[in-house]
Amino acid sequence: MVRMDAPVSEAFLRGMPKVELHLHIEGTLEPESMFVLAERNRIRLPWPDVEALRAAYAFSDLQSFLDVYYRGADVLRTAEDFYELAWAWCRRAAADHTRHAEVFFDPQTHTGRGIALAAVIDGLEAAFHRAERELGLHVAMIPCFVRHLDEAAALATLEAARPWWDRFVAFGLDSAELGNPPEKFAAAFAAVRAAGLRVVAHAGEEGPPAYILGALDRLGAVRIDHGVRCLEDEAVVARLVREQIPLTVCPLSNVRLRVFHRIEDHNLCELVARGLCVTINSDDPAYFGGYLGDNYVAVARAFNLGRPAMVRLAHNAISAAFVDDAYRASLRAELDAYVGS
Ligand code: HPA
Ligand code: ZN
Repeated sequence: MVRMDAPVSEAFLRGMPKVELHLHIEGTLEPESMFVLAERNRIRLPWPDVEALRAAYAFSDLQSFLDVYYRGADVLRTAEDFYELAWAWCRRAAADHTRHAEVFFDPQTHTGRGIALAAVIDGLEAAFHRAERELGLHVAMIPCFVRHLDEAAALATLEAARPWWDRFVAFGLDSAELGNPPEKFAAAFAAVRAAGLRVVAHAGEEGPPAYILGALDRLGAVRIDHGVRCLEDEAVVARLVREQIPLTVCPLSNVRLRVFHRIEDHNLCELVARGLCVTINSDDPAYFGGYLGDNYVAVARAFNLGRPAMVRLAHNAISAAFVDDAYRASLRAELDAYVGS
């Protein structure tokens, strides 16, 4: 990574057209909206007010976050709720100059509470279609299996989602990583691949590099979500570099969940220097203190990066996106025009 260039301006980064590949739509639920939906759906939250809720965002690890996150997701009950959640994020993302996003959602987090999958998907899709029409933001969907549940539940979810398979660009794997290695879901992802869908997986966030290899070899993942612990195993790094498997890195998330102590301690520059295809993403921005633009700005500031390095990261996300050649070329052309202007 070139560090001799003049530091990039915040205005340049905020205005740069962007692609986001690691965002959980349930993680865009802002505290104020959580309370509005709780009241509308007559749900009692364990926090008295927004201030107390924000105080609960002092996470010590992934699980401490997931406990709050699943509690928050419980306020989402109707298609309208999912629509409002997604539309609020679309407006923020468009203001962030996001042009294309591949968005995760967790079907089981909702169907497990008795919410119909159709309500979840109809609500999300209505918002994403409107974003395409009105905001010039294109959104693709990636349902994720939650790894704290068993493989039979993942297989049942895949089957329940069959009517919508052609709307998804991939299936993913998220939730509590440690103790839930990728191979637990080998049959579920074999079924995903048999359905003609791509595979992505969270791996190497809290879990060891072996989980990254497991995601590649046992699940057939073509993109790794997080993956930052790969540097602990040279063979894993070599494999990721050789195959140019993209990593969807989430810097502010990694700091909030204590994967790294401070942003300055993040290994993003080492990952880039090793030749990995690194992308910048926000993960659960309402919980982690920053949307996509904030992540770009935080990285540039922490490592004193210049324009070329930051533009390279934005180009990597275009390379790693699940899009056709013509659309990829148009995303590249827009970024090149912005940089050249
Ligand atoms: N890791 C695993 N599961 C998740 C995350 C994450 O960062 N965010 C939402 N579900
Ligand atoms: Zn994630």
